[in-house]
Amino acid sequence: MPMILAANANAQGSHVGEWRHPDAWDRPAANIANAVRLAQIAEAGKFDLLFLADGNGVRQMDKPDLFAATSPSDRPGVFEPVTLLSALAMATRHIGLVATTTTTYDEPFHVARRFASLDHISGGRAGWNLVTTSNPGDALNFSHAEHVARDQRYERANEFADVVKGLWDSWADDAFPQDKASGRFLDPAKVHVLNHKGKHFQVAGPLNAPRPPQGYPVVFSAGQSEAGRDLSARHADCIFAIEATLPAAQALYADFKGRLAKYGRGPDDLKILSGVTIIVGETAQQAEDIAGELDDLVPPPVGVDYLSKMVGRSMKDYPLDGPMPDFEEEHVGHTGIGRAIVKVAKEQGLTVRQTYRRILPQMAGNMFKGDAQQVADVMEEWYRGKGCDGFMIAAPVVPTGLERFTRLVVPELQRRGLFRREYEGRTLRENLGLKRPPRRFG
Ligand SMILES: Cc1cc2nc3c(=O)[nH]c(=O)nc-3n(C[C@H](O)[C@H](O)[C@H](O)COP(=O)(O)O)c2cc1C
Repeated sequence: MPMILAANANAQGSHVGEWRHPDAWDRPAANIANAVRLAQIAEAGKFDLLFLADGNGVRQMDKPDLFAATSPSDRPGVFEPVTLLSALAMATRHIGLVATTTTTYDEPFHVARRFASLDHISGGRAGWNLVTTSNPGDALNFSHAEHVARDQRYERANEFADVVKGLWDSWADDAFPQDKASGRFLDPAKVHVLNHKGKHFQVAGPLNAPRPPQGYPVVFSAGQSEAGRDLSARHADCIFAIEATLPAAQALYADFKGRLAKYGRGPDDLKILSGVTIIVGETAQQAEDIAGELDDLVPPPVGVDYLSKMVGRSMKDYPLDGPMPDFEEEHVGHTGIGRAIVKVAKEQGLTVRQTYRRILPQMAGNMFKGDAQQVADVMEEWYRGKGCDGFMIAAPVVPTGLERFTRLVVPELQRRGLFRREYEGRTLRENLGLKRPPRRFG
C-alpha cells in the first residue's frame, strides 16, 4: 500500500504571514481560478486527495490585529466547501475531494444528500470530514446561545453518522434501471425506507439520490478526545491527526488501530494521516530562507494575537521578551494544542516572542523542512515506523510550495517505492485501499 498524500487546500495557506509573501497568489479570498489551479497542481503530483477544513463563522473579531491580518484556520472569506469541490470535480479527474461538515449544526439528511451528490458528480471521489465544530462562536449562527458540550456533540455525532450511512443505503446499486422501453425509471423493490427514530433525530428517508458510487463517500474525522477517538474507530475511514514527534505519533497510531476490533474492523480499515507543514527547497538553505521570510511577515501584535488564539487566553499584557507564563491546564485552549504550547515553552524557557515565532510556521503542529532528500527521509521514517499511513500536507507558500513539493519530493518518494507513479483506482476509496461498504439493507 503506497503512502497516502493529502493536500491541505486552504488557498490562503497555513502560515499567518503566507498570503503576504511575494510568491503567494494575489487576492486569495473566494478565488475560484486559484482553487482550480491548486487542485490541478495536486493532481499532477498524484496526490490522493484535497482536504478542506471548515467552520461556520467569522472568528477573532475580539483580536483586532489578527482579525485584520487573518490566520489560516479563521477563513473569513472562503467558499462553502461542498460547493467548491463540486466545481473542482469538473476541473479534475482523479484526485479525491474531501470537505468538512459539522454534525452539531447541520442535519443528517442534508449532509447525506450533499455528499451523495458530490460523489456522483465526481465519479466516486468524495469524502466527508465529520467534525463536531471546534469554534464555539459558530453556535451563535445556528440559534444556539452557546456551543453544545462535548459529550452531547459526540453523542449526536454518532447517531448522525448512523443516519447518514443509513440514508446512503436507501437504494440498491441497481435501483434505477431508467428503462425507456418498459417505462420503469426505478425498481420499487430496491428502496429501503430508513424510518430512523432516535434520541436526536427522526428521519424517515429514503434519500432522494441513488446510492453513491463509493457506497459511502470516504468518512474522515479528527477528534482527539476519548469520545472523538471512539467515534473515529466506529465510523471513520481516515483520521487527520497532528503530533509533533514520531513517538507521540506512534502512540496515537497504535491507539487508533487498537480500537478497531471492538467494532469488528481490521487495522487497514482506518487510515491515519499525520498533519505536517512541509517547507522544501532546492537546497536546505532555500527552505530556511523561505521559513525566515514567512516569519518576518508577521508583526509582533499579530504574533501575540495568534499566540492568544492558540493558548485560549489573551497574551497582550505580557511583555514580549519576558518569559511565557506557565498557565494552569484548565485555563488553556480547549483542544490540547494550547496545553502543548505552554508545556514546550516551559521546558525550553521561551519568551512570549520566541513562543509565537516557534508556533508560527507549523500552527503548533509538526514541520519537516529541508531539501528533497531530507524531507523524504523523515517522511519515510514516519511512514515505515508506523507513525502514520500518510500525510496531510500544508506547503507554504501557496502555490509555489506545493509545486516545489510535487517537483522535488514526489519523484524522490516514487524512486524509493513509497508513492504511486499513476493513480491505481477509479475512486478515492480504491486509491486509498479501502473496501466499498456493502449495503446494509439487502
Ligand atoms: C487535525 C485537526 C483538524 C480539525 N479540523 C477541523 C475543522 O476543519 N473544523 C472544525 O470545526 N473542527 C476541526 N477540528 C476539531 C475536531 O473536529 C474536534 O471538534 C475538536 O478537536 C474537539 O474534539 P476533541 O476534543 O475530540 O478533539 C480538527 C481537529 C484536529 C485535531
